[in-house]
Amino acid sequence: MSDPSRPPAVGLLDQGAELTFPPGFLWGAATAAYQIEGAATEGGRTPSIWDTFSHTPGRTVAGHTGDVACDHYHRMPDDVRLMAELGLASYRFSVSWPRVQPGGRGAANPEGLDFYRRLVDELLGHGIEPWLTLYHWDLPQPLEDAGGWPARDTAARFADYAQLVADALGDRVRYWTTLNEPWCSAFLGYGSGAHAPGRTDAADAVRAGHHLMLGHGLAVQALRAARPAARLGVTVNLYPVTPASDAPADADAARRIDALANRFFLDPLLRGAYPEDLRADLAAVTDFGHVRDGDLETVSTPLDLVGVNYYSRHVVAAPVDGEQPEPYWRAPTCWPGSEDVRFVTRGVPVTDMGWEIDAPGLVETLLRVRREYTDLPLYVTENGSAFVDAVVDGRVDDADRLAYFDAHLRAAHAAIDAGVPLRGYFAWSLMDNFEWAWGYTKRFGMVHVDYDTQARIPKSSARWYAEVIRRNGLAAQ
Ligand code: FCB
Repeated sequence: MSDPSRPPAVGLLDQGAELTFPPGFLWGAATAAYQIEGAATEGGRTPSIWDTFSHTPGRTVAGHTGDVACDHYHRMPDDVRLMAELGLASYRFSVSWPRVQPGGRGAANPEGLDFYRRLVDELLGHGIEPWLTLYHWDLPQPLEDAGGWPARDTAARFADYAQLVADALGDRVRYWTTLNEPWCSAFLGYGSGAHAPGRTDAADAVRAGHHLMLGHGLAVQALRAARPAARLGVTVNLYPVTPASDAPADADAARRIDALANRFFLDPLLRGAYPEDLRADLAAVTDFGHVRDGDLETVSTPLDLVGVNYYSRHVVAAPVDGEQPEPYWRAPTCWPGSEDVRFVTRGVPVTDMGWEIDAPGLVETLLRVRREYTDLPLYVTENGSAFVDAVVDGRVDDADRLAYFDAHLRAAHAAIDAGVPLRGYFAWSLMDNFEWAWGYTKRFGMVHVDYDTQARIPKSSARWYAEVIRRNGLAAQ
């Protein structure tokens, strides 16, 4: 194995060569409860913040909601059969908190838990390893009404919920991740307001980020006590942040955004401290008085693995008066204290989300986590792309999505070659689904979903991925 402190030759990602992954590499695909399940009012489920948000006029494109989504709640056995046909070794799904603990407090809802018991049994019956995420953004609405993630008590409620899911599923689920992308929950949910619950207060966003991590730590402790053999982790969304030029002011802009996007979470979770420069940058927003003695020990409770979601890179430049590009998720207060930093586009190819395609950024990201934070096993728990698809004669030939996956798997392989203990990769997403504020207008799936008929069509990328899994690597091109 080569030296992980040496950067890889990221410009030379073995394009076209045959690449084999280490034995046992975990090949999977991911989804999330609110994005696919539908059945929003069935089986005792009560509203989450995403039900409320999506039903509020103007919050999602065309007013789309997750009421029906991919109707996975009713089609689950067929969907698992499809996963088996694709040869998935693992399936990453999330549990809907308001389905299993309506209202977010008190007793479990047996009918809700039963859905996940059946899902897990179905997966195991097909030889697919279940990978369970406890929180993919669907906070029970009554907990939001009581203050949401900016309120400390929500962290304790999350640990109770984790305990209840561990009691029900701990005997058959080995891999657990607590939170999915706490940056999005905190800074899009309470900062920019682009995501549920749609609040816009910089200090609340920072508090939410802390309480999400506190809830994570408490949940890890509860899970560890309940299931000592379980493999426990968290999923963070990370970006390389690159200055647009050599100018010191651009470098400082990059430092600030890196602190908010990456180090805000990595440092407390894996080092037990907030970065000093981040605290200084946020001085006008908060005095961090919400952080109590002992919190950071809880937040940094030892883990077994770290999940990394990777989509793109941020390229940033120092503020210039009157020049602030503002796609929805960069709206003011999404970057508290650094609202005026400019996000620059480089003119490289982008996906249908407008996100720049940057496979070498995945190598950089994984190497950084390994070098600066931990030698724990890493998993890419999400990676994928939205493109506009066309169904032609019952087929979807998504060459652009396939190329994205291919480039990023080459990057994943380069990271392993450079010494990163990367143990698995989950494509986002198994199927097209409710893409949050974008509703059904953005398609990330390897499987096409016709939302009128709920028919599923595996796209070319799905067929290709099945072959990657079968040969545990990429064929020469
Ligand atoms: C991630 C989310 C996932 C999906 C992808 C495109 O931020 O975790 O639910 O929306 O982006």
